[in-house]
Amino acid sequence: MSLWNKHAILEKNSIILVIGVLIVIAIGGLVEIVPLFYLKSTIERVEGVRPYTPLELAGRNIYVREGCYNCHSQQIRPLRDEIERYGHYSLAAESMYDRPFQWGSKRTGPDLARVGAKYSDDWHRDHLKSPKSVVPGSVMPAYPWLAETELKADTIADDLKVQAALGVPYSAEMIEKAVSDLKAQATTDDPDADALQKRYPKALARDFDGNPQRITEADALIAYLQMLGTQVDFKLYDDKANIR
Ligand code: HEC
Repeated sequence: MSLWNKHAILEKNSIILVIGVLIVIAIGGLVEIVPLFYLKSTIERVEGVRPYTPLELAGRNIYVREGCYNCHSQQIRPLRDEIERYGHYSLAAESMYDRPFQWGSKRTGPDLARVGAKYSDDWHRDHLKSPKSVVPGSVMPAYPWLAETELKADTIADDLKVQAALGVPYSAEMIEKAVSDLKAQATTDDPDADALQKRYPKALARDFDGNPQRITEADALIAYLQMLGTQVDFKLYDDKANIR
């Protein structure tokens, strides 16, 4: 039997054909995808994007814990209606330090990729406590325990370490200062706030939950929400690249 005749085995036996097709597609897929993991240019670096501060990272952990991603995406697509509603479409670099990513796949509520600085801290505090108190028709569940629960900061340095192991550029100094940075960001007039902003440019340091006596889970979550989508200065970017 010549080689060509052997091909008849594939053509006459559907299971073997399916397995053969899968192998061929897998090879094609690997050739296309694997280099992307190694190419440095896969993600274009964009000025302003920095790793999360310890407080923001703690807030992000709460966002994941509470399942906010079940109703909210963080991914503005380059479509006109989305850009008009939410702002500049999301850049890959804006979620380069998101592990796991929070792009989401369902929008029961609005996209949150650029919710930072859209509302006041008070608005967020009231909204998380009782969404209907600020948006009467809201179907978002209430999260009243966040403002009442002390934020546990004892594992935050380990969180940074894990993120660093995954490739987020947290330095040894950032890990060592994680707890003091977290406290400095959630309190007003903390003498360490300058050092925090040196490590994390443009980090907002203030009392986010309206209760200066305690650092609560609401402090962390609101700090996270208030920075979402604010790292890249699109005014600079748009003038240069003329995007939109
Ligand atoms: C069951 C779905 C659902 C879940 C879960 C949910 N939300 Fe919402 N969210 C909504 C809906 C619907 C709205 C729009 C109405 C409103 O503003 O309350 C909304 C609005 C918001 C807004 C205002 C967005 C804007 O641009 O006006 C923020 C911020 C927000 N949610 C944050 C959160 C956070 C943080 C969590 C997790 C703690 C969460 N949501 C969980 C449904 C949800």
